[in-house]
This record gives sequence, C-alpha cells and structure tokens, in this order.
Amino acid sequence: MQSDIVITIDGPAGAGKSTVAKRVAEQLGIIYIDTGAMYRALTLKALREDIDLNNEDELAHLAHRTEIELEKIDGEDKVLLDEEDVTEEIRSQKVSNYVSVVAKVSSVREELVNLQQEMASNKGVIMDGRDIGTVVLPDADLKIFLTASVEERARRRYEELKEKGKDVEFDELKDEILRRDRLDQERKVAPLKKAEDAIELDSTNLTVEEVLRQVIKLCQEEL
Ligand code: CDP
Ligand code: CDP
Repeated sequence: MQSDIVITIDGPAGAGKSTVAKRVAEQLGIIYIDTGAMYRALTLKALREDIDLNNEDELAHLAHRTEIELEKIDGEDKVLLDEEDVTEEIRSQKVSNYVSVVAKVSSVREELVNLQQEMASNKGVIMDGRDIGTVVLPDADLKIFLTASVEERARRRYEELKEKGKDVEFDELKDEILRRDRLDQERKVAPLKKAEDAIELDSTNLTVEEVLRQVIKLCQEEL
C-alpha cells in the first residue's frame, strides 16, 4: 500500500517508538525518520571533539558545520555523520548519558528541525522523537503519543542490551531513562509533551504486534 500519510510518534525513552515506526513504515510503504538518531549523531561528534557541552555557541557552530544523513543501505536504516556510518556507535551508553544536554540547546534544535522538515517534505513519512507532533510536523495526519511505565521501559532496554551481550545494571538503566525523560520534559525549548491532538497509547501491557495493529487501524481511519 503506497500512501502519502504523515504520522508522528512522540513519547519517552524506550516506549517502543522506533520499533513500531519502522514496522508501520514497512507496511504502508512510507519513509521512517528517526530524529533521536540525529541528536545522538551530533552528540557523538561533540564528545569526540571534546566540546564543552555547556557552551551553547560552540554547540550551535558544531550543528552548523555537521552533515547528518539517514539512509537505507541494503534494507538497513543507517545513520551517517559527515559520511561516516555511526549507526552502532550512537547507541553507546556515553552518548545516551549526554544527548539530552545537547538537545536542549535552541540553536541546535533549530538546525535539526529544519533538516527534519526538509527530509519529510512532500512525501509519506512516519517520524519519531519528542517534539514531532508539537513542533516539527504540527499538521501531521495522525499523531501518536506512545508511553509505558518506567519499569517496563527499563526492562525492555535491559533485555535488548542483554541480547547484544552487553552487561548492564537494571537500576542504572532505569536511572538514566528517568534522568533523560526529566531533562526532555523540563527543557524550555520544545519539551517532550503530548500534542493536544495526539492519541495516547499506553504500551505497558501490549506486545509490539498489538501496538502495531492499533496504529495501523488509526492510519486506515485517516486514509
Ligand atoms: O531511543 P531513545 O528513546 O533512547 O532515544 P532517542 O529517540 O534516540 O532520543 C535521544 C535523545 O534525543 C532524547 O532523549 C532527547 O534528548 C533527544 N531528542 C529530542 O530532543 N528531540 C527529538 N525529536 C528526538 C530526540
Ligand atoms: O524508540 P524508543 O526509545 O521509544 O523504543 P525502542 O528503541 O523501539 O525500544 C523498545 C524496545 O522494547 C524494543 O526492544 C522492542 O522490541 C520492545 N517492545 C516494544 O517496542 N513495544 C512493546 N509493546 C513491547 C516491547
């Protein structure tokens, strides 16, 4: 099924946004845009260059001189930072620990929001993040606000990392998620919040398939 529907999925860390968004994109034949990956890529570059994360001017300059691309290569979603494939590296614990500090800078957001709007122009798209329904694509056809309890979100992350053979403490993961959610909700510019016209889905007790079914049903009502 081809379509030019525009869908946004916002919500806290680990709610299942990217998992569900990818599946919806496949089913509807539309593009998936992971905006969190863009903030992560910029954070990785800031860490590599040892930039002072409290210096907003330096971060603004960094955002301006950085090229971030999202590409499908051999069927896999890849994140390119100045043409380098950083898809794996941007998921590191270190990047997760600092990304919300970089993402709260207004000039950084301005730069990335422009890029996100460009990527989404004139096509069917599903975009996930924190401010997509409120700021980036306020005229979207369908807005989802996906949540789950913090225990469940931390459990999902824990399972994911364990499967990859990574050794992490459950409590540390939960603390990192809570701290990041708080920073994202409390920042002055484009904080994480449900758009007034978004539909809230609590996935705490739902499987990926069940969430997918609900989102596809909502899409069909829009088409
Ligand atoms: O996948 P996970 O939920 O861990 O996070 P993500 O979607 O990769 O986003 C990482 C971080 O980027 C978030 O915690 C926010 O600080 C920031 N972000 C944002 O500010 N605005 C967005 N539209 C997307 C992400
Ligand atoms: O993008 P976001 O940070 O919201 O979450 P994610 O990166 O998609 O990670 C969610 C994890 O929870 C994945 O490992 C999913 O397989 C799992 N999960 C889910 O996404 N939705 C459910 N209803 C149940 C589990």
